[in-house]
Amino acid sequence: MVVGGFGGVDGPVGSFSGKITLSVVITCIVAASSGLIFGYDIGISGGVTTMQPFLQKFFPSVLRKAAEAKTNTYCVYDSQVLTSFTSSLYIAGLVASLSASRLTAKIGRRNTMMLGGLTFFAGAAVNGGAANVAMLIIGRILLGFGVGFTNQATPVYLSEVAPPKWRGAFNTGFQFFIGIGVLAANCINFVTAKRSWGWRLSLGLAVVPAVIMTMGALFISDTPSSLIQRGKMEHARHSLRKVRGKDCDVEPELANQEPFVTIFERQYRPHLVMSIAIPFFQQLTGINIIAFYAPVLFQSVGFGNDSALIAAIILGSVNLASIVVSAGVVDQFGRKFLFMEGGIQMFVSQVGVAVVLAVTTGVSGTKEISKGYAILVLVLMCMYAAGFGWSWGPLSWLVPSEIFPIKIRPTGQSISVAVNFATTFVLSQTFLTMLCHFKYGTFLFYAAWNALMTIFVVLFLPETKGIPLDCMNSVWEKHWYWRRFVTG
Ligand code: BGC
Repeated sequence: MVVGGFGGVDGPVGSFSGKITLSVVITCIVAASSGLIFGYDIGISGGVTTMQPFLQKFFPSVLRKAAEAKTNTYCVYDSQVLTSFTSSLYIAGLVASLSASRLTAKIGRRNTMMLGGLTFFAGAAVNGGAANVAMLIIGRILLGFGVGFTNQATPVYLSEVAPPKWRGAFNTGFQFFIGIGVLAANCINFVTAKRSWGWRLSLGLAVVPAVIMTMGALFISDTPSSLIQRGKMEHARHSLRKVRGKDCDVEPELANQEPFVTIFERQYRPHLVMSIAIPFFQQLTGINIIAFYAPVLFQSVGFGNDSALIAAIILGSVNLASIVVSAGVVDQFGRKFLFMEGGIQMFVSQVGVAVVLAVTTGVSGTKEISKGYAILVLVLMCMYAAGFGWSWGPLSWLVPSEIFPIKIRPTGQSISVAVNFATTFVLSQTFLTMLCHFKYGTFLFYAAWNALMTIFVVLFLPETKGIPLDCMNSVWEKHWYWRRFVTG
């Protein structure tokens, strides 16, 4: 059933149907819900690592240090074992996302998503029942495999199924569900933190989003591109008609599929650079120091246990709201504008946080921060979270999934997710040590990266709004720098 056609968007729309059908909306909501498991995990680990009973059971040395370390508020949580709890997931995710490229080409996007959901489910169960650190880490590794698969398959799924004119909004659904996952996890931590076994509940409840997304995936069909890649032409035609509407001529879109070739050819240089640079920069916005360690961070700057978790909830809500804003404007204002605005906003907020911390905690980090200033830090961080939520958050999933020709799409998306995880791993593993040694300077480090990536966007990122996936080559051909690679 066709729910409505939308007009009024500038830019080449091409020959393919731009209609939004009820079927495409439902399909995309279900697919995007796989962002839930990633978000839940991101949000849950930070809170759990501040829970006393959890630390007592698995990382008692951190608690001893916290008791002794009255001298320097920045160093309390500086423990490599503790950070490896959070970051082990990303190593596993890295391996999984690389193998997911073959998998999505072979078994399809949807089946890869389901496999991810099931693996994540197993990880959540092991973590909830963990009796020792080894079980914790094994659980994390399974979770990592889960999100490795789903993060590779879902953005590609969304971009392949969405009508070109509204691809930005549809794809943003993935980040939206990540945001919901983060927020739900923060709220759950707030409740469970008061119980001695609360951490088990927090970690174990990850089975819920896993069930939601895996069951949901059972009811959606694979993308037409993926079906064709696997030689299922009739099925692809049927699936495309279903999402584009019965009255739509799907043959031009169907005829546009080709087999897989390598991303390392010269003509794909711009794609390769973007598949690496975008996720790399996304992580260097510093989002995960906030996402994972918000509760730790707020405690470090003087919030009590409860208020640190509430602060994390506030941050999560601001982030979620800004993702909605992004979905509403990304196909009008375009990707470039949002990238630039968000970059500048994050730069300003981080410099602000650094200044406030420098002034209040002193160079050695020994002075206590007053309540008023702690709130100011929270406000600045909300400004930061909003900047991320409408720019680098969703767009780092959207742009890599839309710039590749079908031939290199699975490889391109795999590289992109792998770079995302590798960078997340390094940054999350080093952040608490960085905070301990560089103190407020840590925020200046990330601010500098935000400035750099904004310049990169201005110079090197072409605008891709409204352009059908099959016509994407034109954006590179017209670009002042990249055209030398794609033409001739
Ligand atoms: C990033 C994650 C991050 C999350 C925060 C995602 O787009 O890839 O690393 O934790 O956004 O909401």
